Amino acid sequence: MRSVLLGVGGHLPERVLTNAELAKRLDTSDEWIVERTGIRERRIAADDEKTSDLACVAALNAMNAAGREASDIDLVIVATTTPDLTFPATAARVQAELGINQGAAFDLQAVCSGFIFALATADNFLVRGQAKTALVIGAETFSRLLDWDDRGTCILFGDGAGAVILEAEDGPGDRGVISTFLRTDGRMHDLLYVDGGVSETNTVGKVRMVGNAVFRQAVEHISGAMLEACARAGLSIDAVDWFVPHQANQRILDGVARKLGIDAQKVVSTVAFHGNTSAASVPLALDVAVRDGRIKPGQLVLMEALGGGLTWGAALVRM
Ligand code: UT7
Repeated sequence: MRSVLLGVGGHLPERVLTNAELAKRLDTSDEWIVERTGIRERRIAADDEKTSDLACVAALNAMNAAGREASDIDLVIVATTTPDLTFPATAARVQAELGINQGAAFDLQAVCSGFIFALATADNFLVRGQAKTALVIGAETFSRLLDWDDRGTCILFGDGAGAVILEAEDGPGDRGVISTFLRTDGRMHDLLYVDGGVSETNTVGKVRMVGNAVFRQAVEHISGAMLEACARAGLSIDAVDWFVPHQANQRILDGVARKLGIDAQKVVSTVAFHGNTSAASVPLALDVAVRDGRIKPGQLVLMEALGGGLTWGAALVRM
């Protein structure tokens, strides 16, 4: 039994926030942001636009691409750090909005690694025969967690959603999820966190990050996760056609590619146009490269991410 990736979809809110706009109200500049991160602009959800709204549009795009309807889907996983409400799960709202009236729906919290964790979770459900067709979404209104006076974090993040349809397939063929690798090291909890929450402060809180320490951890652990996912599949990293990384910082993408000797042409980068959208960034980048024809059926794609927790992981998929 394999989990075949049938379709991908993305969605970004309309409002564009440029570096120049940020530089008007913060001690920063377009030059600094572009040079240190590669980010040129990010999208910000409207006041009345919720994570579930972004998730539903991305999900419908993925369902259209996959040729699947609400009645086909029996598992919904939403990876998000910015749920509509503390409970119930944003996935429950998404399930209802999309008219999916069967199966389970739940949220998964692994911050920027959320989509990789959700993909691996869905793969396990499908391979175990506990669901047939899964809708896996990464969706965030991350702007709501930002301290707009902290130039070390607020320039990095944005809002958006991406989704895939995974379906259990039996029999011959080599398409689908080949291997996954997930890791959490809670000892690095304080490198990237939100200083509020239901149980500890009874507030929502704002993002706090030791940026340069996270940066160093990212290059090391992302490289390790990519090698591990390939090793588990018995494949060399040279066999991979496309690398679809979490879009946090262009310098992290470049650092990982250099460390592993990867041709930069094979790395899908969309960070310039939406910044770090946390759990949404991997499926958003995947969607762009599938739609523009770079990623073709049969090709080997390696996705990866690192985020708060710290969490990190990678997933190797034959499209
Ligand atoms: O998705 C989860 C994972 N998150 C990440 O991957 C983020 C990882 N970290 C980063 O992307 C980078 O560390 C940052 C972009 C956040 C910062 O870049 P850096 O090259 O690591 O800079 P730094 O934190 O070492 O700071 C260097 C200088 C500091 O000034 P001083 O102390 O040298 O005078 C900062 O205050 O850059 C300053 N700085 C800025 N200057 C202009 C920090 N942010 C800004 C800014 N504009 N926006």
